[in-house]
Amino acid sequence: MRIAILNGPNLNLLGTREPEIYGSTTLAEIEARAREVATELGVQLAFAQFNHEGDLIEAIQALGGRAAAAGVAPDLREKADGALINAAAWTHTNMALADAFSAVKLPYVEVHLSNIFAREPERRHSVLAAGARGFVCGFGAHGYEMALRGLVHSLRAGKR
Ligand code: DQA
Repeated sequence: MRIAILNGPNLNLLGTREPEIYGSTTLAEIEARAREVATELGVQLAFAQFNHEGDLIEAIQALGGRAAAAGVAPDLREKADGALINAAAWTHTNMALADAFSAVKLPYVEVHLSNIFAREPERRHSVLAAGARGFVCGFGAHGYEMALRGLVHSLRAGKR
């Protein structure tokens, strides 16, 4: 089984970015833990972060089995069985991301470090949530591990 963990804009700054909201764990540390969990679960893992919207959309298309555009990183070019996504600020507005997942029918779980429903009103809505298998937020970096375990469990159970 192949899983991709996709991170949206500014998440490359985790560790120093507003630690009172997002914690002090870096994205590299989140990736390292996710790789340990993936090994334990016996799944292959690709992990990436995007500051450019089009790059993320092309990666979702490639992971969903469409021919990869030239700029898609090598480990995102092969079809995946599912994805974990923290779309960061794009979560709240970006219908193109939701459309990309629907178009290629790639199952996904949404994850956020902070509890977006306890934040400013404009962050309390996700355009991705309705299409997601599951949703984890508010547990900081640990949420990635929870979401990864949940996604693999759900795919193995053969749900929807
Ligand atoms: C976030 C929440 C978003 O509102 C914000 O724009 C982020 C991070 C989170 O993980 O808590 O960049 O997705």
